[in-house]
Amino acid sequence: MAEKRVIKFRIWRYDPDSNGKPTYKEYDVPLSSKVTTVLEALDYIKANLDHTLSFRASCRMAICGSDGMIINGKPMLACQARIDDLTKNTNVIEIRPMENYKVIRDVVPDLTPLFEKHKKVKPYLMYKDEKEQFNPTGEFIQSREELDLFNQFTYCIKCGLCYSACPVVAADEEFLGPQALAQAFRYCVDSRDQGLEERLKILDDKHGVWGCHFSGSCSAVCPKGVDPAQGIQLLKQLIIAYRLGVRKVKHEPVVKPLNTEFKPNPKIPLAPPFTAKKA
Ligand code: FES
Repeated sequence: MAEKRVIKFRIWRYDPDSNGKPTYKEYDVPLSSKVTTVLEALDYIKANLDHTLSFRASCRMAICGSDGMIINGKPMLACQARIDDLTKNTNVIEIRPMENYKVIRDVVPDLTPLFEKHKKVKPYLMYKDEKEQFNPTGEFIQSREELDLFNQFTYCIKCGLCYSACPVVAADEEFLGPQALAQAFRYCVDSRDQGLEERLKILDDKHGVWGCHFSGSCSAVCPKGVDPAQGIQLLKQLIIAYRLGVRKVKHEPVVKPLNTEFKPNPKIPLAPPFTAKKA
């Protein structure tokens, strides 16, 4: 039987409770059908070689954004990083925590600044008529074209890889960063939103859109194919247009609810009744 291929994992270890400096530790991991991604290798190490290893993960399918780390020098999600792809010319995989964050332990970063900045740009729909916002009498019609203006930015999973790759975040702690700015753009161009003026207070600033040097590294590492660098440049354009009095975004009025009464298709059988008994 062919011998299993063994990959050496060099992993950054840091224990905040000891006075020691961070250091790399090495683990040999045999590949198998159960160990094909970096996250699976980390699981293997924790279960079989060193239970003190700390890392964060949840969905295992590039949705929750928990397991961002630097893998062979590039910010990646461990669950999305395939060992085969990373070891074409080497048998070593090096893992360290994401840049631009404080490290809690081993490869677990403190994402608090990411979420704080995200919160600052008011990442929700704002409507000037508060009565309508909180007690809606109708709904908005949004065209396909209007949705396309921001749709790609809704795929952001807030993993923070873009912050880790951004040279401006590295140099300016106050810079809002690619994730928050791209999300600000997403809401500012939504035809249901009227929050641009409110958001300008924070966006139109040297630590806001004007801090971006357009290095593009945020877009290069996004695991969901979002292009935050593009969002930021479009946001700059939106802000300049606003200053010149040009209204780029057309706001649609609220309309009466559509007639969406559910009429079952007789050709499609209805779902069977719920059979599980309550405990
Ligand atoms: Fe959820 Fe990787 S574990 S994104």
